[in-house]
Amino acid sequence: MWDALWIDVDIATCTVPGEYGLIENGAIGVEDGRIVWVGHREDLPGPVEELAAVLHQGEQKWITPALIDCHTHLVHGGQRAGEFELRLSGASYADIARAGGGILSTVAATRAAGEVDLLASTLRRLSPLIAEGVTVVEIKSGYGLDLDTELKMLRVARAVEREAPVDVITTFLGAHAVPPEFAGDADGYIDFMCDEVLPAAVEQDLVDQVDAFCETIAFSPAQVERVFEAAKLFNLPVKLHAEQLSDYGGAELAARYGALSADHLEYLSPTGVRAMAAAGTVAVLLPGAFYMLGETRHPPIGRLRDAGVPIALATDSNPGSSPMTSLLLTMNMGCVLFGLAPVEALAAVTRNAAQALGLADTRGTLEVGKIADFVIWDIEEPAELAYRIGFNPCVEVIRAGAPTLVR
Ligand code: NIG
Ligand code: FE
Repeated sequence: MWDALWIDVDIATCTVPGEYGLIENGAIGVEDGRIVWVGHREDLPGPVEELAAVLHQGEQKWITPALIDCHTHLVHGGQRAGEFELRLSGASYADIARAGGGILSTVAATRAAGEVDLLASTLRRLSPLIAEGVTVVEIKSGYGLDLDTELKMLRVARAVEREAPVDVITTFLGAHAVPPEFAGDADGYIDFMCDEVLPAAVEQDLVDQVDAFCETIAFSPAQVERVFEAAKLFNLPVKLHAEQLSDYGGAELAARYGALSADHLEYLSPTGVRAMAAAGTVAVLLPGAFYMLGETRHPPIGRLRDAGVPIALATDSNPGSSPMTSLLLTMNMGCVLFGLAPVEALAAVTRNAAQALGLADTRGTLEVGKIADFVIWDIEEPAELAYRIGFNPCVEVIRAGAPTLVR
């Protein structure tokens, strides 16, 4: 007997790229936290009462894979509404960063924050994501830029997993900005990150993957390459903030290192697209940052599609460029601002987001053997998930086969 069986549901399995993988009047069987059966109800191997210990009747609601937010900076102190006001009166994101604001102002606030408060504020920002059916979230460091605070951020990210019903992938983003102590010595800072901070964080089992910010206002491809070499020594997968504000060749570099993803990508070149396709690197698009910074240059969606590069979407939740905590709104923005189809937007926060985190074997689709993380939605068709703005139709989140949230 299975542990539980869901019937009277319509299912979008997301198993086939470019399609919802629709199963009308479907059923899902779960055992030991994994999916053991998914298909049409009439094909079930016996009478429903005899198949599982618990029978859930879905009242013809929809089930999709649980959502995955594969790029966030959720752990941080403070906020930057003041910069928002400056940008609205004409200052650019890069101007503010060069004047010592931007990321560095959040660094000061994060260094000053106590660990307990940092965890509490992170959990508050996480809760709307959980309410939307997110069961896996990636969280980066990168607002510490010194040993103690980078470790503090990563400990908080790990603690999130103990305090909230989500799985957390932690990302070391020491190469996010040059801190004041290293002003004018970006190379010395990279040495410090590679030789001292990353090894200490790995030693304490705080790092699942490694990221960097490759941009004229941040680090050069040569500096990023040293970070990737350091990651390689620890067998950690890499990813990169690339081609957000200019074409700096970051995506090609990331592809050369077999990166799981390259993220942002508004200025991605045709060569970059080809390199990502060849390396199997996922394109993580962040329409929240594009929107918030009033950008006009779009990521090359058509080329990415043509080249078969999987496209993911994420909130990029951070206090500067994307103070946003809704993955459903991100899906809507992916469609309206970048021209994705709703079916692509759903894949972008499920199967492709799983791939961007190296979790494609266990997450992101509804198929036998995968972890039974799924969402029950009160919708009439799956395109509704990307269509509404500011409305959350999630009624229940199932995590490893167990209902965790009922609204
Ligand atoms: O993904 N681009 C670099 N990092 C963040 C922004 C960080 C910040 O402004 O605090 C991003 O947009
Ligand atoms: Fe980011």
